[in-house]
Amino acid sequence: MNKTIIVSNRLPLQVIIENDQIEVTPSVGGLATGLKSVHKESNGIWIGWSGITQEELTPELETKISKAVTKEQCVSVNLTQRDLDHYYYGFSNRTLWPLFHYFIEYTEYNPESWEVYKSVNQKFADTVLEQVNEGDNVWIQDYQLLLVPAMVKAKRPDISIGFFNHIPFPSYEIFRTFPKRKELLEGMLGADLIGFHTYDYERHFLSSVKRILSLDVSFNKITYDNRIIRVDSFPMGIDYEKFENAALDHNQMNEGDKSEIQKRLDQHLQNEDGIKMILSIDRMDYTKGIPNRIKAFEYFLRKYPQFQEKIRLIMLAVPSRSQVPQYQKLKQETDELVGRINGEYSTVSWTPIWYFYRALPFENLIDLYTSSDVALITPVRDGMNLVAKEYVATRTRKDGVLVLSEMAGASIEMNEALLINPFNFEEIADSIKQALEMPKAEQKQRMQALQNRVSRYSVKKWANEFMNSLDQVHKVYNVIEAE
Ligand code: ADP
Ligand code: G6P
Repeated sequence: MNKTIIVSNRLPLQVIIENDQIEVTPSVGGLATGLKSVHKESNGIWIGWSGITQEELTPELETKISKAVTKEQCVSVNLTQRDLDHYYYGFSNRTLWPLFHYFIEYTEYNPESWEVYKSVNQKFADTVLEQVNEGDNVWIQDYQLLLVPAMVKAKRPDISIGFFNHIPFPSYEIFRTFPKRKELLEGMLGADLIGFHTYDYERHFLSSVKRILSLDVSFNKITYDNRIIRVDSFPMGIDYEKFENAALDHNQMNEGDKSEIQKRLDQHLQNEDGIKMILSIDRMDYTKGIPNRIKAFEYFLRKYPQFQEKIRLIMLAVPSRSQVPQYQKLKQETDELVGRINGEYSTVSWTPIWYFYRALPFENLIDLYTSSDVALITPVRDGMNLVAKEYVATRTRKDGVLVLSEMAGASIEMNEALLINPFNFEEIADSIKQALEMPKAEQKQRMQALQNRVSRYSVKKWANEFMNSLDQVHKVYNVIEAE
């Protein structure tokens, strides 16, 4: 039977070693949470890194990890500490991530990291080549693996290869500054179908291909190496039913079944009559606009003092890439901002910001989504942003307001949210006020429209559309070959 092989840097599960025992936890991030539900229902396999370096492995641990990973239909690629330093922390997260998110001043280029990036991409390609059989589809994910499509295509031109980029593709003027621009594009062009979240990212990619590689681009098709490659946009969705059902169950929960967080939220709502909750959830990443958000919140408290003691910002940030200096700086800046604002505005019975720096289990995310009056999502650049869609899916009572940055890919499909420019503090402050004062009828109208759209284009639909499209492209390619 034909299968789909998903390939990504991170597996949907992460292995941690604790006192010689392994602990398996789910991975955080849009790619893992989104594709997990698609993978669960397929008979395919998922190739990726387990979270453990080769140096940490004993033969005993290796057997345990392999068992845990195989149970989830996964195959792990072993990375050494050097691989991790140069390929993951280095080229992926100190070079490509900032470059693709328009943080050109953060973009470093280190030739050694580039060499390791190539060799690790080859490790992933080799694992694919070991696992792939005739008729299988290979679906490669994201910026950590830009060279894998060409590496697989070189050895197995018969296999249908898809590539999806989960982050923005920058404009040509940004991309052209990068020394290895040609090699990156050629790596991606090993795929038969290349997908992006939005039409803008697709357009930027096509323009780079045309101008850097001087290739023939007709509408969204590229002729390269005697093949036709299709480029298209597929906005990623969420497992809508999972979030909706969890929220429905949550709303009917008995007192005794409630989590500690929910009990605290309830208590807080009862004690502090009329207080409203504003929620933000993200990985601790400089692309998420966390300092901008806190500063805009402070500006709001100053501009509209009547809301002091009547609202609270609950900010959940999950630790991410904490060995990269810019992430350490961001954590420090966030701690300081939260501390300063809480110090300045708190009263004996009120703290303006509740700040959690940790990953939380799914149930607690649902507690927070369902208990918040406003979701405040302000990235300065974001490929998609699934949190915005998750918030909408959990609002089963059709209330709540989404304030969303126009720099998130999700904003294109979410016009009924209050869309803001994350660099405009005044606009954010005014939108917070508008959200807090929005009549129930308007909340319902906006939420219903958002829910209709987000539920229709779920993650399953996204994956099916990508796969059907890949099938079509591959058939065309086969016809050209036969001629
Ligand atoms: P990114 O992919 O850049 O991290 P997304 O918003 O697209 O951003 O996806 C983030 C995913 O990670 C969401 O599915 C969200 O539910 C999950 N997530 C974010 N923060 C936490 C947290 N503190 N604990 C657990 N899961 C989280
Ligand atoms: C974003 C990227 C993913 C990545 C995730 C979490 O969603 O597009 O590729 O897996 O962030 O980041 P991490 O570096 O922890 O895998």
